[in-house]
Amino acid sequence: MRCAVIKKVNVNTLQKIKNTGEKFSVLTAYDYSTAKYLDEAGIDVILIGDSLAMVALGYDTTHKIGVEEMSIFTKAVAKGVSRAMVVTDMPFMSYNIDLESALVNVCNMIKYGANAVKIEGCSDYILNVIKRCVESGIPVMGHLGFTPQFLNTIGGYNIQGKTFDTTIAILEQAKKLEDAGVFSIVLEMMPEESAKFITENLSVPTISCGAGRYCTAQVMVSDDMLGKFSDFKPKFARKYGDMKSLILNCAKQYDYDVKNGIFPSDDEVFKLDNAEFEQLLTYKSS
Ligand code: KIV
Repeated sequence: MRCAVIKKVNVNTLQKIKNTGEKFSVLTAYDYSTAKYLDEAGIDVILIGDSLAMVALGYDTTHKIGVEEMSIFTKAVAKGVSRAMVVTDMPFMSYNIDLESALVNVCNMIKYGANAVKIEGCSDYILNVIKRCVESGIPVMGHLGFTPQFLNTIGGYNIQGKTFDTTIAILEQAKKLEDAGVFSIVLEMMPEESAKFITENLSVPTISCGAGRYCTAQVMVSDDMLGKFSDFKPKFARKYGDMKSLILNCAKQYDYDVKNGIFPSDDEVFKLDNAEFEQLLTYKSS
């Protein structure tokens, strides 16, 4: 018997894509079925983003999700994926307290099925965490520009790298991440000229999250892409579907069918054998 061999996307696959000037795709997923379909569709990297705090759990910021919740979603997504690289976002303060707890938390995500982790920022401490992960065989995706876990110190959802000086500062951070061993870097919310300049001056692939067209890859929150999340729409998100309407229409139809005896139909119920049914009809309860 022959079976198709699925070639799993890994750090080398993504680096080759960057080297040949091609692009790769990244989408978030938080559950088994969505991950399975994104993988089947050919998405190269599936990210269990901490955006799930807002889009799947209804929190108002990403700060409120912890390691335990991220673990549950990582396990679910990893089970659905055969080809794509699975990356888990390390949640707020899960890698900032000390090196030891950072490594334990990162290592658990790999045990739960992630192939890599994403870490925001570029302080000396974070560079050290990244180095230790990479030395231990754990690929790390960096994240610069607007970093949601730093929302309160950044002072709002502000576009980053809007000037020559700040673009150079982000490039310098990116180079430090590269030296620490990251295999790719998310650039979030910056002018596309700045992201292009940074991309052209780095060896590793960059992934645009609202950083324009010239990065090696694009990432989007799948609930935005599917038109499911409707609390707000970032400028850089594109709706490829209208899952909100689909869910509303299906739920309204179901509600109508239940209330009017249309669901379930004859085909959707279990039936007694005739003899058993006859017995029930003649039985008189006391
Ligand atoms: O949390 C997330 O989903 C992310 C990406 C959108 C980059 O960090």
